[in-house]
Amino acid sequence: MQQIAIFASGAGSNAARIIDHFRHHPTIKISLVVCNKPGAGVLNIAAREHIPTLLIEKERFFRGDAYVPVLKELNIRFIVLAGFLWKVPSGLVQTYKGKIVNIHPALLPKYGGKGMYGRLVHEAVIAAKEKESGITIHYVDEVYDNGQIILQATCMITGDETPETLAKKVQVLEHRHFPAAVAVLATL
Ligand code: GRF
Repeated sequence: MQQIAIFASGAGSNAARIIDHFRHHPTIKISLVVCNKPGAGVLNIAAREHIPTLLIEKERFFRGDAYVPVLKELNIRFIVLAGFLWKVPSGLVQTYKGKIVNIHPALLPKYGGKGMYGRLVHEAVIAAKEKESGITIHYVDEVYDNGQIILQATCMITGDETPETLAKKVQVLEHRHFPAAVAVLATL
């Protein structure tokens, strides 16, 4: 079994879709949810699905071993960031080279980087009068939203678009593409 960890700190709607996708998968198992936020929605999803969770602390993540020994011990082979807002420390990136992917709710390289998350992304896209937005699935390196782009999917922006309506369109794309992309990427 190829064991995957999902890193998430939010509501966990993408995590839920990914867990669902791999529920009966013959070779891939979602075996851990890693979260830095007590009370995050994704923790309830993991509990409901009987998936073990690891609540991580800042100090150990950034200035300690970044939990690499724990992940290795659990035989984690691939990491999916799904709404994980902390930067991934170098030690973890190096250990899992080409094995960590993230999803970003806009068309990178625009509208990425530190502080560009959630509603702020959609506000910036609309303010810039973009004609389209979408999702970017990319490999993770030491710089926020910078790693090699793997897949993008787009949606149109209408004249009366709001951050809320755009967020919904983008979320549809995330749920449609992320689980299937992970299925391919995790086996490379
Ligand atoms: C998604 O929009 C994803 O693109 C971003 O964080 C959000 C997570 O949403 N990186 P959810 O917690 O999966 O619902």
